[in-house]
Parts: sequence; structure tokens; C-alpha cells
Amino acid sequence: VLAGAAISALLLSGCAKTGQYISIGDQASGYNREIMRMGIWPIALSILIFLGVSGALFYTVNRFREDRNDAPPQQFHGNNRLEMVLVLVPVIIVLGLSVLAVRSLVKLNTASANTVSIEAMARQFWWQFSYPNNKVEGGVVANGNEMVMPTKQRVAVTTSSMDVIHGFWAPNIGGQRASIPGSNKTWEVDTDRQAIYQGNCSQLCGASHANMRYKVVALDQARYDAFMNAATAYTAPTPEAGSAAERGMNLFMQGKTSTGAVACAACHRVQGTPANGQSGPDLSFFGTRRTLGAGMWEAMTPQHWEEPGAAQHLRTWIKHSPVVKPGSIMPRYDGGDYMVNGKTQKGGTLTDAEIDDIAAYLRTLKLPDEADYWRGVP
Ligand code: CUA
Repeated sequence: VLAGAAISALLLSGCAKTGQYISIGDQASGYNREIMRMGIWPIALSILIFLGVSGALFYTVNRFREDRNDAPPQQFHGNNRLEMVLVLVPVIIVLGLSVLAVRSLVKLNTASANTVSIEAMARQFWWQFSYPNNKVEGGVVANGNEMVMPTKQRVAVTTSSMDVIHGFWAPNIGGQRASIPGSNKTWEVDTDRQAIYQGNCSQLCGASHANMRYKVVALDQARYDAFMNAATAYTAPTPEAGSAAERGMNLFMQGKTSTGAVACAACHRVQGTPANGQSGPDLSFFGTRRTLGAGMWEAMTPQHWEEPGAAQHLRTWIKHSPVVKPGSIMPRYDGGDYMVNGKTQKGGTLTDAEIDDIAAYLRTLKLPDEADYWRGVP
């Protein structure tokens, strides 16, 4: 029953039709295809061995059961030939499987002539995806918690961590890798299908481990190029004079409010502006993203922005992110205290109007519509 359930689970895991399902059996990925090709052998051999052993057992129990009144079977002590077979067959099977496994490992870990490199930097509790080959003034193209990659080619992902051990895992595009401080692990992932896939942190890493999600947006080459060209050429738009967004920008950049200090630009970077902070997610394309708080909230689309729910999420986030996301080191701006690494910190204060102004500014930080990487992707 267990073997049957395990096999069914494995087979069913291949049923995912779109990237909305998390599946290690997603056959759109060459990585997963290779794993499946190799994995089918131990499964098939296990079934054969199971059938052989249980067949022999049933035969013996039936053949020699008491009510047959047969003479006792032939009695013997030891059988060198049979024992040799019983040792050699498993050794051959295990050696055979090892060869297959090593071959797949070598294949998956041999760098291809890839042209796209992505750095996945993990932190408590969010991800920063950046593109080392795409230099811009003051850094490289970067996007927090949404990883955009092209389809139909192997993409090199280098993962590391700024604090504790995290785990990079978007099962639909390939294997899991630990994100270890001071260590850069590079491997390749791929998918043939344009879709949005779910990624999660796969190592228990602290209070908000479960709130450390990300999206992988796989785009066909032309759309990926459109995204990357626009992202490389991007400079944050200057808000209209006198608008809420302009007031928000001033708060964001200058760090002064009616009631004290706010320091968005000290921690966040916005491409093409003086904001170049490195300790929080890059907000250059904040208005193009659809998730907030490392995937805590989804469907933060422009269509949803005017709905009370989405607006409220963003407001709540700016106001007191450590309250809604345990362990977030973003300061509170409702005047309350919060903890960073076991130490109590005093928060700042923003009025509701100031929070709305900052939110208005963040929403202007958008790629042009034709480079919106979420557009039309199933
Ligand atoms: Cu990071 Cu779990």
C-alpha cells in the first residue's frame, strides 16, 4: 500500500499543467526530466524486487503449509551458491544505480554555455534577485522576491546568504540549493514553459521562514529581452509637481516627516535616484511587482490597487511591517517598539496621510507596460 501510494504520488506530481502548481515532476524543465529519467530506475527495480520477494514468500507458505500432508521438504545446511547470488545481485543493482546517479549529477552540474546569470541573495526574510551581467549606474539590475528568467535555456543561479542558512527552491524549474553565508553555489535551472512559478525558502531559518516566498516569472526570449532592456534603461520617473507621489518621494528620499525621521532611502535602492540603500529589497520596479512582503500578499496588481484590501496591505506594511511579519527588520512607523536581533528598537512615526503619499510614490516605480513581466503569463 505504501509503495503504491508513493508511486501514485510521484506520478500525480507530474500532472501539473501550469506553473501555479508546485511540482518536482514538472516535465517542462530539463532538470526535472533528467531527475525523473534517473529516478524511474530505482522505482522500477523496487517494484520488481517487491514482486519477486513477495511472490517467493507466498509460494513457500502455500507449497509447504501443514495441511498438504507432504513429506517435510529437503533439509540442508547452507548453500554457498545461493548466498553468493543473494549478495552479488544487490551489489550489482546498487552499483548500477550509483552509475546512473553520478551520470545525472555530472550532467546537471556541468555548466552549459549559458548567457543569463542570476544572483539569489537570501536574507531574513526575503530574497534579492539581481543580474550581474546587466550593469546600471551604481550597481546592477535587481528585483526583490520576483525572479525573471528566460525559457528554453539553462539559466545559472548563484545563491548565497547574508545571515543564516536559507534554501532556494522553486521545484518546477529544478533542484534545491542551500543558501549559505560566505558560500556562492551556482547551478542551472530551466523551463520550456512561460509561466509564474512558486519559490519558497526551504531551510527553517527563523520566525518568518514561512513568509520567505518568491515568484519565478519565466518569459519567452522576446519578452525576457523586453523586460531586461527596459530594466537596464530604467530611471525612476519623476512624479508630477504637487502630487501625492511627489510628497511621497520627498519623504522617501529626505527622511524627514512632520513627526521625526523616516529613512526609506537609507535601506532601499531605487535605480536612477539617490536612494542606494542595500539592507532592504531593491524597490526600483516596485509598481510592477504583484507580491508584497516576500510573497505574504499576492494579487497586488494595478487593477487591485484601488481596492481597499490591496491598498490596506501596503499601508499596513509601511506602517508596521514587524507587526505583520515576525522578524522583519524594517522599522515600525506607528511609534511602537520592535525587535532586531534580540534588541529592542524604537520606531518612528508617520501619519496616515504620509503613509499614503509614500505608497503613491512606490506605485509610480514601474517598468513600461510593454516590459511588465507579469502581463499575460498564465
Ligand atoms: Cu529563509 Cu527559511
